[in-house]
Amino acid sequence: MSESLLAVRDVRKAFGPIKALGPVDVDLMPGERLGIIGPNGSGKTTLINCISGFHRPDTGSIVFRGEDITRMPAYRRARFGLSRSFQIPRPFLGMSVFENLLVPMDYCSSAETEKEEIERVEQVLESVGLVERRDHPAELLSQLELRKLELARALAARPRVLIADEAMAGLSEAEIDDVLALLLKLNASGVAVVMIEHIMHAVMRFSQRVICLETGKIIAEGSPDEIVASPQVQKVYFGEQTRR
Ligand SMILES: Nc1ncnc2c1ncn2[C@@H]1O[C@H](COP(=O)(O)OP(=O)(O)O)[C@@H](O)[C@H]1O
Ligand SMILES: [Mg+2]
Repeated sequence: MSESLLAVRDVRKAFGPIKALGPVDVDLMPGERLGIIGPNGSGKTTLINCISGFHRPDTGSIVFRGEDITRMPAYRRARFGLSRSFQIPRPFLGMSVFENLLVPMDYCSSAETEKEEIERVEQVLESVGLVERRDHPAELLSQLELRKLELARALAARPRVLIADEAMAGLSEAEIDDVLALLLKLNASGVAVVMIEHIMHAVMRFSQRVICLETGKIIAEGSPDEIVASPQVQKVYFGEQTRR
């Protein structure tokens, strides 16, 4: 059996009296496509925040590339190959698309010279299809372009793992296909992708394995087919409707 790229063990996180997450164990294999689903408030973003270093878990450990990163600050995790995009895009307003990408590049990447940084930005723009928007102010982007910029910012540091938190919210079907294709292409280049998503057909199409969270715990795990057929998952998503 190959070794996990990322191993989350016994992680818990509470906010005062609210037990937002855990205990959970999650493994991610190199190059894997993992989907995480669950109703609103089930702890998906909290899990991602613990993995990416925005929250310190109350218990447990997180091992990435064989190193215990539980106490590593977020920016070092990013440099170490763990990138995430935010549920609500956070572009730097008043900056162009290009400048928006230079910021994480300066912050996270191993690029040594300015020339290397600029080349890397051009590469990322190309990979997400934003080349034509290079000099556009971020505030003039469409919803789809903002989502792409958010992913591009996460890609600037050449991650081993990209965690996309609801990267398709608010998009049309055609735009969802666009982002899916982008994530598949990225995955084909060797990046493991964790997709947190409410858009069921997208996460089922994309993922090799899916985890379902409810009230901070994993209630089901399996292939997309197994997850769709899971009585626990059906209860969480459709239970209220059958009660009348
Ligand atoms: N920073 C926070 N402070 C207090 N409560 C929080 C915070 N972040 C999340 N929560 C609570 O933790 C629970 C899980 O939230 P979240 O992880 O955002 O769920 P999801 O992403 O699955 O919708 C919810 O009850 C939410 O209100
Ligand atoms: Mg969330």
